[in-house]
Amino acid sequence: MLAVEQLERLEQRRLAIQQSQDRARSAQQRNRLGQFATAAPLALEMLQFARGLLGSQPVRFLDPAIGTGAFYAALLRLWPIARISAAIGFEIDAHYAQPCRRLWRATPLELRCEDFTAAAAPAQQQARVNLLICNPPYVRHHHLQRVDKARLQQRSMQASGVRLSGMAGLYAHFITTAHCWMREDAIAGWLIPSEFMDVNYGHALKHYLLNAVTLLRIHRFDPMQCQFRDALVSSAIVWLRNRKPAPTHQVEFSYGGSLSQPQSRGLATVHQLQPQARWTGYPAALPAARRVTRDVAATTLGALFRIKRGIATGANAFFIMTAAQAAERGIPRECLRPILPSARRLDSDQVPANEDGEPLIAHALWLLDCRLPEVEIRAHYPSLWRYLDEGRAAVGRGYLCARRTPWYAQERREPTAFLCTYMARRRERADADAGRFIFNRSQAIVANSYLMLYPREPLARYIGADPQHARCVWQALKSIGSAAMIAAGRVYGGGLYKLEPRELTAITAPSVAALLNAI
Ligand SMILES: C[S@@+](CC[C@H](N)C(=O)[O-])C[C@H]1O[C@@H](n2cnc3c(N)ncnc32)[C@H](O)[C@@H]1O
Repeated sequence: MLAVEQLERLEQRRLAIQQSQDRARSAQQRNRLGQFATAAPLALEMLQFARGLLGSQPVRFLDPAIGTGAFYAALLRLWPIARISAAIGFEIDAHYAQPCRRLWRATPLELRCEDFTAAAAPAQQQARVNLLICNPPYVRHHHLQRVDKARLQQRSMQASGVRLSGMAGLYAHFITTAHCWMREDAIAGWLIPSEFMDVNYGHALKHYLLNAVTLLRIHRFDPMQCQFRDALVSSAIVWLRNRKPAPTHQVEFSYGGSLSQPQSRGLATVHQLQPQARWTGYPAALPAARRVTRDVAATTLGALFRIKRGIATGANAFFIMTAAQAAERGIPRECLRPILPSARRLDSDQVPANEDGEPLIAHALWLLDCRLPEVEIRAHYPSLWRYLDEGRAAVGRGYLCARRTPWYAQERREPTAFLCTYMARRRERADADAGRFIFNRSQAIVANSYLMLYPREPLARYIGADPQHARCVWQALKSIGSAAMIAAGRVYGGGLYKLEPRELTAITAPSVAALLNAI
């Protein structure tokens, strides 16, 4: 990862370039190419949301209308450079492309000073991207030449099979032409004018969003809170995954506030959504049961989850080990189960897993978890027996171990997909670490630096075996926000922040409860 100060300096330079280049242009010139930059906090919020969807896989990033690189700057803040396998930016106007290229020259960005809608998409899946974030140029159709329109319509058709009407603005063509830049399962986030949700030319785009890809979420900003300093437009952010939707798929609509803290939200199945209908009415127009009702607003995490602290081993240094240590000590695989390292050592808030449920993370650890009596261990696993024997005096007489039978037995815990960090060491880290929700897709359990959240009915039924639903629950947990989490916990002398299970149960979670309206 680039050093924080380095990133900060680059961002200051980028903002200065943005300002000077914008000033050097007339409003008319900027209108012609839709040159209205995304505010840095919004760009960061979008990339944070994208990270939640994408997980910790290496990222191949594309911004087809990069300007000075508001989204690229946010990408660099959130992904270690080593996990950025490619970053491509298109910018048609050398006035922005040249300083942008100079600014980012020491980073992995491949900047192409070209018209994105005319560029050939990579033929190979591998060369395509898995993350596309864009604030495309908002150029109305009246400002597009007739020959350009015809060319754009043809490109859109070739790339996505969508026939956009002659009334469609340039931004709609960006979405459709970008289709064949995405790998299967790629995530795309588009910051666009919300008018497509209601106008006639939006039908074809909505048809695409409902059928060709999985529409994950549309967040519409309150039109009174314009997202641009210098352009009057009502904006929406459209999130999609490049995969055909499951028949039962539900789309989240949110409105007002911010992407992470909307004023209202609700779910609609893809079947309920018609391309010809007005979509700006959502989530308000959804049946009351699918909206966040007052009861939902008061629902606590305790009503939704059984919350337990992770296990207390009695001696982490003895019972928790790396695979290499386990091999060296001759501990058999059947006496080991995966356990996550502390949250500080997780690269991402998502823990992916292999087919056996083992976490695919950099600092994988194993818990010595064996309840066999010593005689059996001695007979069948002599090296494990020797290891236990060596620990007997120092570890076996410890407070917790001495009260267990046998002394090396561990508490019983099932894995769960939802984890929350229990404490943060320093005051200044409390914001980042306290009450951080982790999406655990592995079979690993955790030690007591985490809280484990086990869904109760009917939430467990809603999740079922659908990883997309589990992900929605995790996203909803994250939207509770660190301010509410910190307010619920306690700060001790020296800045130690803790959140006890009881305190977590009392936090209200309307965003999670709202998901239940879908069943
Ligand atoms: C709305 S701005 C967004 C800039 C930047 N990504 C941001 O969010 O701040 C759109 C950018 O796309 C560029 N642009 C317009 N038409 C383009 C095209 N056909 N191909 C590539 N870039 C284009 C404009 O010059 C402008 O810099």
